[in-house]
Amino acid sequence: MPFPTHRSRRLRKNPAILRMVEETSLSVNDLIYPVFVCEGEGVKTEIGSMPGIFRFSLDQMVPDVKEAADLGVPAVILFGIPDKKDAVGSEAYNPDGIVQRAVRKIKAAIPDMIVITDVCIDEYTDHGHCGLVEDGKILNDPTLELLAEMAQTHAQAGADIVAPSDMMDGRVGAIRQALDQSGFDETLILAYSAKYASAYYGPFREAADSSPKFGDRSTYQMDPANSDEAIREVLQDIEEGADMVMVKPALAYLDIIYRVRREINVPVAAYNVSGEYSLIVAASQNGWVDRERIIMETLLSIRRAGAKMILTYFAKEAAKVLARRRE
Ligand code: PBG
Repeated sequence: MPFPTHRSRRLRKNPAILRMVEETSLSVNDLIYPVFVCEGEGVKTEIGSMPGIFRFSLDQMVPDVKEAADLGVPAVILFGIPDKKDAVGSEAYNPDGIVQRAVRKIKAAIPDMIVITDVCIDEYTDHGHCGLVEDGKILNDPTLELLAEMAQTHAQAGADIVAPSDMMDGRVGAIRQALDQSGFDETLILAYSAKYASAYYGPFREAADSSPKFGDRSTYQMDPANSDEAIREVLQDIEEGADMVMVKPALAYLDIIYRVRREINVPVAAYNVSGEYSLIVAASQNGWVDRERIIMETLLSIRRAGAKMILTYFAKEAAKVLARRRE
């Protein structure tokens, strides 16, 4: 395409033309807002490493979720912080546990809000691992039963989508089977399929008090060096019954999002995780970057890579910007 016959800048001539040829867009419909819920009343505690993000008791959570709904954010994903932790994560599958009650509360107050629940026991175990532990090893198969039970109690409470984030083998199949057998064949599964063992989860672990007390998660979460393996994980989860798959984290893994989207025909979600949030917030608090522009550019890049849905702590803020741009 030789110059001067072709001038790329003609397509960038003014904002109207730019909008006309825009290839990717971000909509409020793409956003999923993560919410931390804890026991107690009147609790709204800011997370030190995540300014602007809080742990809410149920009474405080409802107005926050309502605000997201009023901004047009279609979905929330809930993370529970129980008062009691034990070796088997009992509170995770307590039908009256913190997340189960949170789901009921949201569904009663804001019926149209899509409620997604994180299915993983690490926030509920005293050792902080995502599976049962024996002699320092993370057990796979015995953990599946607990995950299935946890998902079932979430569905029973009214969750629309359950999202297993534990990375045990076979968990999607175990959860699908348990849901189907208990009459929840309409509950969707969003599988954290390509979940990497990432340093970007640091601030979340402060928020959920879920750091492993020994070792790390490298025997179940994926090695950041691997890409083909992500495709295998995704295919396996789809075969076991996942309706949607997730890549996590998002920014250091945009190539994985792109591959999954290109190679496999299924809705892809990406998790713009806690560390990605904190980096942007810290840099903008220092005045080093333009907060609004960098948030919107980041979210757009995740969409461009191929994710339809984005789990992001910036959901409410981005929704406000999108609403303003529409005015
Ligand atoms: C596990 C879980 C984690 C995150 C979501 N689900 C933490 C982990 O694997 O250690 C991290 C999310 C984030 O960093 O924002 N229940």
